[in-house]
Amino acid sequence: MKAVEVAPGVHWIGALDPGMRDFDIILKTANGTTYNAYCVRGSSGVAVIDTVKESHAGEFFRRLEQVAGYDEITTIVLNHLEPDHTGALPELMRRAPNARLFISFKAQTMLKGLLKSEALAYTPVDTGDSVSLGDRTLRFLHTPFLHWPDTQCTWLEEDRILFSGDVFGCHFCDARLFNDRVGDFRFSFEYYYRHIMRPFREHVLAALDLIEPLAPALIAPAHGPVLRDAPSAYPRRYRQLASPQLANEAERDKTLLIFYISAYGNTARMAEAVRDGAESVDGVRVSLFDLQGGEVTPFVDLVEEADGLAFGSPTINGDAVKPIWDLLSSLAVIKVGDKLGASFGSYGWSGEAVAMIEDRLRGLKLRVPVSGIKVKLIPTDAELALCRDYGRELALHLTGRAARKVISMEELLSAAPATNPAITAKAVPTATP
Ligand code: FEO
Repeated sequence: MKAVEVAPGVHWIGALDPGMRDFDIILKTANGTTYNAYCVRGSSGVAVIDTVKESHAGEFFRRLEQVAGYDEITTIVLNHLEPDHTGALPELMRRAPNARLFISFKAQTMLKGLLKSEALAYTPVDTGDSVSLGDRTLRFLHTPFLHWPDTQCTWLEEDRILFSGDVFGCHFCDARLFNDRVGDFRFSFEYYYRHIMRPFREHVLAALDLIEPLAPALIAPAHGPVLRDAPSAYPRRYRQLASPQLANEAERDKTLLIFYISAYGNTARMAEAVRDGAESVDGVRVSLFDLQGGEVTPFVDLVEEADGLAFGSPTINGDAVKPIWDLLSSLAVIKVGDKLGASFGSYGWSGEAVAMIEDRLRGLKLRVPVSGIKVKLIPTDAELALCRDYGRELALHLTGRAARKVISMEELLSAAPATNPAITAKAVPTATP
């Protein structure tokens, strides 16, 4: 229960949670986690940076009391408002009446939503803003979406210490605390990045542009070991992880991945026809994958780098089949909102799968520019030709050469729906190539 000095006048006052096995439902923790909070003493004030989960508040307050009196606290900084860091905040503010609370400007509505208090006084800050503790200065870096919109880092200028919030953190509990003393936590660091930060890699790169030039002498994250040995290795590793993972031999080409699964070969035939149609368009590289052939997890890296995704599934008991949903659910850890999505499949009597997959793709913020295509049982030559048209249409959208669609009121009002309204819709050339 001792506070731990991480630099002269700077103490770790967090809490250990070795029993934690599931974090935020989606994360497994092999040996628990820590909720790191810090106390910085300056010549004219004391700052507390982050707090801990409410269940561990007692441990946090006992450590804080070893290094500061509540009346000395002039500054409370929250780098991130998730409850594992704000749980002890209301009680801390009650005990430290002289303190001003600093949060990122993006955190303001979240603070009200979390603490349900309109009366709570706070100061919103942005990159470049600072607060003085006399001989020490805390400067703020706005680093949104690492991994919430509100996240920021706090830079202790004179000591070159970065209080990084969740960034560079990991769920790894070891009371020896420092990265050069704890057990091997590399797997936790990588796992945490891949599950927490990976969907926001553009924001990670933007944050690294702020952080790396500072060359921190010590990084103090909100979870896991304090990074005092070779701290620059951790931003460097984030930059590697946030950069494209797979080299594409034909870099100028757009990439379309077609995933399918087929009970009797009908959806497979459609998939091949979609592929053939897409391949007929210059500048598109098409790949075809049968999901019956293996696990879905290895495809995640490929999907992250792709420009378009098409999913083919039969309808069984009114639903798409499990491997398709497994792959779609595994995409939560990457950014897919900038991709094109498509769906097709053979069905026996109801055929809901195509529309269900499209709905899911839209829910994931993919662009679905062409209505999906479904075929009753065995595709005819004419229907396979329609699949080829569909593939070609997708490829034209990928390369920015698709014809602009004009909605026909006649078709809209027609009682007989077209098999694929998007393909049969009238089209006019785009204004720009
Ligand atoms: Fe550690 Fe995003 O909270």
